[in-house]
Amino acid sequence: MSAPAPSDALVCFGITGDLAHKMTFPALYAMVKRGTLTVPVVGVAFSHWDLERLKLRAKDSLQLAGVSVEPEVLDRLLGLLRYVDGDYNSPATFAAVRKALGGAKRPTHYLAIPPVLFSTVIEGLAASGLAADARVVVEKPFGRDLASARALNAVARAAFPEDAIFRIDHFLGKEAIMNILYFRFANSFLEPIWNRQYVASVQVTLAESFGVAGRGAFYETAGCLRDVIENHLFQIVALLAMEPPAYRGYGALHAEKAKVFKAMRPVGAGDLVRGQFRGYRDEPGVAKDSTVETFCAARLFIDSWRWAGVPFYLRSGKCLPADFAEVVVALKPPPQALFEDSIPASGPGNYLRLRLQPRSAVALAARVKRAGEEFVGDQKELFLLDEQAGEEAPYERLLGDALAGNGALFTREDSVEAAWSVVDPVLNALPPVRPYEPGTWGPREADELAAADGGWLTPPGS
Ligand code: BG6
Repeated sequence: MSAPAPSDALVCFGITGDLAHKMTFPALYAMVKRGTLTVPVVGVAFSHWDLERLKLRAKDSLQLAGVSVEPEVLDRLLGLLRYVDGDYNSPATFAAVRKALGGAKRPTHYLAIPPVLFSTVIEGLAASGLAADARVVVEKPFGRDLASARALNAVARAAFPEDAIFRIDHFLGKEAIMNILYFRFANSFLEPIWNRQYVASVQVTLAESFGVAGRGAFYETAGCLRDVIENHLFQIVALLAMEPPAYRGYGALHAEKAKVFKAMRPVGAGDLVRGQFRGYRDEPGVAKDSTVETFCAARLFIDSWRWAGVPFYLRSGKCLPADFAEVVVALKPPPQALFEDSIPASGPGNYLRLRLQPRSAVALAARVKRAGEEFVGDQKELFLLDEQAGEEAPYERLLGDALAGNGALFTREDSVEAAWSVVDPVLNALPPVRPYEPGTWGPREADELAAADGGWLTPPGS
């Protein structure tokens, strides 16, 4: 199969917004610096701005991100910028985008806009002929339940073929998360133990010490389950649980990930704990009687040959005691206790730990004998890797991949819908939200959820 033709322009809807300010401009700058962005960038918004104001915004954004700006690179970036101001409901806006594109024939349209506008812009692109030979990158959240995800997929599929639709989950652009795929399938020692025979449970934690950081109004529409569990953490689970892709190519990868979501058992109310940190209701934009969760712990089961009966524990929250994301794959104990301590009475047995951020690490925990007469020992971690985050930030990587037509690190229609199917029933039967103190690991009920499998493992350094 020949490589897809690269896009010859990037159109950024929502260029005056918060996401563009925080993420898009630093990514565009990095791409220009690396030489991977040389095509025009058309910013679109309805803010009554002009190109000069947009250029100031770009500079401000780089300053905010702490980029040490090289004047020559900045000039190149600013030289690529165009600006179109207009209402997304008006055909005149799309006509102006077409004009700004000049001779470009294969643009990538990036929708960094509020989700309520996704359909409007996609339909506007289609009606104005701007969808032909183009790609569309849709930000998260892709739907807020199964019905809305299906509806959005239908709108997108009416305008673009599936391989021209790039649904962003920025976790997939993180180096350490790409390493899950590599580590699993570039090594032979894992495969024999990577199944229900040897794995006792799997835990995935995304802990954040900060609160909703001024995003209260957005957070009220999402909550932790929709904001990070159903997308970011589910994507990690898919990479951990998938079967080896049948061939090298992103179609095979997507097919295997989709099978994991299809095999996930819908989450029941008894498999979910929701928490809310004390003080959340005083945040700007948050209802005084809000029942939105800022913490979530869930137990998942994947009813497949490989994973039958193995619980996958997922948790995330705001105002927790630490900032990190990691996976712990806990192994079953040896079949006999030949030594008194070889089946630990408490604490974890052998495990594989994949720390995803802030620094990535791969560690294997195993017991070794203490020097001396007695056959007793300690569990020690063998570090395979301990590195800084990747060179390319996720948005640089993902926007570059979309421009190049490489969909490997994006989510596919069937996976998105299958993932929503797992949480959709419980969205209508949510368990009550439990308060927790900021700086703690969420409500007590979250500990109870994982207690049968040894509790949450928060390894050293957290
Ligand atoms: C975003 C969520 O998608 O991911 C945020 O909306 C969350 O609430 C963030 O904090 C975590 O991503 P990262 O890359 O900052 O760890």
